[in-house]
Amino acid sequence: MKQNKSQSEAKQLDRVRDVILQAKEKAYQETDTEPEPELTSKVEWPVHCTVGPGLEGAIAAETKIGYVNGTKGTLIYRGYDLFDLCAYSTFEETSYLLLHGRLPTGTELARFQNLLRRKMVIPRTQRLLFSFPVEEMAPMAALRLGVNLMRQKQTFRDKDPLLEEISSSIAADEDSIPMETPPTGEERPIFEFTGHTADKPSTASPGTLSSEEIESCYNLLGGVASVAGTIGRIREGRLPVEPLPDLSFAGNYLYMLTGRRPTPLEERIMDVSLILHADHGMNASTFAAMVVASTLSDIYFAIGSGVAALSGPLHGGANVEVVQVLEEIGGPENVSEWYQKAREQKRKVPGFGHRVYKAYDPRARILGPLAGMLAENNEEIQPIYATAKKLEEEVVSVLGSTKKVFPNVDFYSGIVYRSMGIPEHLYTTIFAVSRVAGWCARVLEYLDHNRIFRPRAIYTGTLHEEYLPVDQRSPGGQTE
Ligand SMILES: CC(C)(COP(=O)(O)OP(=O)(O)OC[C@H]1O[C@@H](n2cnc3c(N)ncnc32)[C@H](O)[C@@H]1OP(=O)(O)O)[C@@H](O)C(=O)NCCC(=O)NCCS
Repeated sequence: MKQNKSQSEAKQLDRVRDVILQAKEKAYQETDTEPEPELTSKVEWPVHCTVGPGLEGAIAAETKIGYVNGTKGTLIYRGYDLFDLCAYSTFEETSYLLLHGRLPTGTELARFQNLLRRKMVIPRTQRLLFSFPVEEMAPMAALRLGVNLMRQKQTFRDKDPLLEEISSSIAADEDSIPMETPPTGEERPIFEFTGHTADKPSTASPGTLSSEEIESCYNLLGGVASVAGTIGRIREGRLPVEPLPDLSFAGNYLYMLTGRRPTPLEERIMDVSLILHADHGMNASTFAAMVVASTLSDIYFAIGSGVAALSGPLHGGANVEVVQVLEEIGGPENVSEWYQKAREQKRKVPGFGHRVYKAYDPRARILGPLAGMLAENNEEIQPIYATAKKLEEEVVSVLGSTKKVFPNVDFYSGIVYRSMGIPEHLYTTIFAVSRVAGWCARVLEYLDHNRIFRPRAIYTGTLHEEYLPVDQRSPGGQTE
């Protein structure tokens, strides 16, 4: 019986890979005649380009980390096609690739997986988090706070030796935050509380790079996942759980978020979701992280700024809106009427369109069928998934060929997360957990040839106002 179950689980995992490879084939077939990529050759500085408001079109840096091919609808990390990474790789391996520029050997990968698992154990930071009203904070605000607290606990930057001595005597027990042990399987799970000693800072880097910065990147990769999990737990009135030794990064992240051991299918699909959110060109949060790092501030501040930029609804939050709209529609039978009204009201449909992709977003091509797989055995998800499929059909038939508007990454990710039991308000934190890999890789790359970012603005105000004493000024105007 047990053997049958694991055989069927293995089949499901094979199916995940096959679905991704089919999506790859479709992507290449459909865009075969589109022109070859732009912006992939070496540039001579200073570079001439046409810049729009919001720095649109500006070339700000050279990179070897990732490339978004908007016309063909493909995404490359360090030369590797996203479809291949999602089909064959893991988030740990992909993060290593982004950070170190090459795929790890088997030994390096095993060491890196263990390292990240250890980096998820951050009781000092978790304990500090408990001193804030995390349950009342927006999860992204709490995540940003958590990154700052990690900086406090994992670096020596702000430490005055005298204060350090005082604070360690006050907080002598700070390493011993209670943790819930894994549920024991009883009908009403029984939790025991155990003490835990914080991981000692590691100095061993599995790759060739070895520096305070790269060590901080490892801390952030594991730590942000752990903080995000802790935020989810605190919001449910529960204590954090520790990572399990036999789960992958994705599996542990899910486990630390829900307190429930994920199924192999959930673990694998979360892994794929983390891979495909890990990097995406010079988007707003990546740029924010790079700008902060370019001042030679530190990498914790840089990643905290990435989290802040990602929190905005124009960047990281569209998948929540998608789920809300699908609920508002109420079922596939209502899609035509709803979409007709949306068109009359000139309402943009969340989860469609993209500034760079003028073809089907490769990430949506992958997440769509995976949402379908999860829906197969989940009756609660089936109606919302069927509604999404119908909406995709309608929107693409109207806007696909004319406006090049197709589903983007956010269209199916919310359905995937919902089917794993993750509450909507945590969706953007999942994005952040994954994007730490891209933020860190791009910050490290930029710091190698750092130049502080300093664009200019065109001043359109007046130039020669006369300063008048306060009793001579008229209301609503500077001068009479
Ligand atoms: C992502 C987004 C901001 C990109 O904007 P953009 O590159 O400036 O594209 P534009 O707004 O200029 O769109 C071009 C045309 O497609 C239409 N369009 C774009 N996205 C659309 C959508 N989601 N629903 C309906 N029409 C859309 C626009 O109305 C516009 O039509 P027009 O030429 O008649 O004015 C935009 O597609 C959008 O708001 N999408 C919904 C929110 C979303 O899913 N965000 C997550 C992105 S990952």
